[in-house]
Amino acid sequence: MQIHDLNFQLLLSATQILCRVQEIAAQLSDQYKTKCPLFISILNGAFVFAADLIKSYSGPCEITFVKIQSYSGTSSSGILQTVLGLEQSIEGRDLIILEDIVDSGKTLHFFIDSLQQQKPHSICTVSLLYKPNAIQFPIHLDYVGFEIANDFVIGYGLDYNGLGRNLPDLHVLAQN
Ligand code: IMP
Ligand code: MG
Repeated sequence: MQIHDLNFQLLLSATQILCRVQEIAAQLSDQYKTKCPLFISILNGAFVFAADLIKSYSGPCEITFVKIQSYSGTSSSGILQTVLGLEQSIEGRDLIILEDIVDSGKTLHFFIDSLQQQKPHSICTVSLLYKPNAIQFPIHLDYVGFEIANDFVIGYGLDYNGLGRNLPDLHVLAQN
């Protein structure tokens, strides 16, 4: 499949992804059964993951969204920008951070730093995808959907210069 100037091929099907997302949701539902966690989804990429996960989460919870950007094209720009921040107090709250993909780790590393300064009760980090070979900033991930190679992916919320977010499956840059 062609998106802009690049070719992509299937990596994970929508069914495979949903299966794993439901597993994680079940584990979180059990872990937080006596609490009312606040999910924080990082826009734009995590919106599809967050929607699927929260539908499979049982028990009282809230969800909110932040927007942090460091990417342009297929590589990190090196500059973090908060485009949309948190509106409510998170002091004393149990936070579950939902990220689409951890690449260098920079987005989550700095975001978690800023959350910790606001004194939540706990922070749980969840990323659908994780590229262990790309990590440059130390972060702890409590739940990972899939570990993948250090290749650019699109679909299921993730984009290449704005396109591809609506694809139900996950696709990887073709090696040719
Ligand atoms: P990090 O700060 O380098 O870990 O990058 C994390 C953010 O970059 C993610 O939230 C994505 O929005 C974006 N990103 C990283 N890798 C990819 C990719 O392979 N495809 C699409 N977006 C990506
Ligand atoms: Mg993202």
